Amino acid sequence: MTNIKLNPKFLKGFLKETQLEDFLKKSVEAKKLLHNKEGAGSDFLGWVELPNQIQGKQIKELQETAEKIAGNSEYLVVVGIGGSYLGSRAIIEANSSSFDVVSSNKTKVLYAGHHIDPDYHNELLDFLEDKEFSINVISKSGTTTEPAIAFRTLMSLAKKKYGESNLKNRIYSTTDSKKGALKKLSDEFGLKTFVIPDDIGGRFSVLTPVGLLPIAAAGIDIQKLVDGARTMASYLKNENDPYANTSCLYAAYRNFFYSVGHKLEILVNYNPKMHYFTEWWKQLYGESEGKGKKGIFPAGVDLTTDLHSLGQYIQDGERIIFETVLSIVSPMKNLLIEEVQGDPDGLNFLAGKTLSYITNQAMKGTMLAHFEGGVPCIELQVPQINSEICGELIYFFEYACGISGYLLGVNPFDQPGVEDYKNNMFALLGKKGYESKKIEVENKLKQLD
Ligand code: PA5
Repeated sequence: MTNIKLNPKFLKGFLKETQLEDFLKKSVEAKKLLHNKEGAGSDFLGWVELPNQIQGKQIKELQETAEKIAGNSEYLVVVGIGGSYLGSRAIIEANSSSFDVVSSNKTKVLYAGHHIDPDYHNELLDFLEDKEFSINVISKSGTTTEPAIAFRTLMSLAKKKYGESNLKNRIYSTTDSKKGALKKLSDEFGLKTFVIPDDIGGRFSVLTPVGLLPIAAAGIDIQKLVDGARTMASYLKNENDPYANTSCLYAAYRNFFYSVGHKLEILVNYNPKMHYFTEWWKQLYGESEGKGKKGIFPAGVDLTTDLHSLGQYIQDGERIIFETVLSIVSPMKNLLIEEVQGDPDGLNFLAGKTLSYITNQAMKGTMLAHFEGGVPCIELQVPQINSEICGELIYFFEYACGISGYLLGVNPFDQPGVEDYKNNMFALLGKKGYESKKIEVENKLKQLD
């Protein structure tokens, strides 16, 4: 059995059972397409069986590299964007202290190349100047501009600090086995290089070295993460009853709500450590489903914080939202409200109660309010956060995403739309081969003046 349960309590009245039947039937057919590699994008289904294929020796190699990094570096800078950094950041932040993504971990993980802001990168370079650091540069294509720019600047600092001959003790690359500028550069400098399998796309790559190396470096048990994913993979593969197969059920509900006008899904968490998990989830669903002028828009809220910002809209704005609530039952450590003599702040009614009890009541009250306000709430009950359960969650959402994309009628494993901004940017920056495009883009921009 797995640790993740779907509670449909706050969906009552939004649909009749018969309305879901067709979606459920199709979700089981989509599941078959995934396993038989018969659907769109079937060249990118390496993630489906991945948890069963990761061997002890691969885990050991990653752990040994993590030890080596910890041996000479206080900081590891992960250079990557999109699927090349969000998965590791999600798992690291979910399993680390909110204040010191560090002391309990082996190596502090920092991030670069997930945007091109000069202030951020200048500040990072200044910060690292007198620190011991290593770099893990991650790019499947090996040619993505944002991480390539960050890597060039960081590599230059590493060269100055450690000398060219020592780069192989400080820089690790994760990229394609054969092609791309990063592969070429890694070979030239003799860098230890981990491979992203050809049949696994960026946003489905958390359980490859893309995610596993930084996660191991942060001191998180990657064997347990993989074990959790394996438990979930075997459960979902073997369960053909769509009511019991949580991913099929989730995919069916999503597509039903989309079909009746709920075009925006918010992933809701009550635990700030899960903020980057939501960011990972947004990318997974946004890039997989938003194509052909259709798709649910995936958004996220951190509660109760955002009840004081977006809460008003969710409760009372346009009725286009449905929500998926990650209800995490037990915290890592609880905190008790003490009784204060005289009750100066009027809070003694909470004395003796824990913060987790209070959070649970806030969660129930909020789900009920949203439900009554016309927002269907899919509750995903999760007992607690640890590396094993994170592995289950990752695989659960990936599998549901594949099924959901097929239900929607798109190829969930490509991302053609991402190219448009790149082409315009390359043209404006004068990249070789984009000469005529440059004139075209500049003219279009002028016409808009
Ligand atoms: O999911 C994806 O494929 C993308 O988000 C990529 O991960 C992202 O664009 C980075 O690409 P690359 O790893 O080739 O640098």
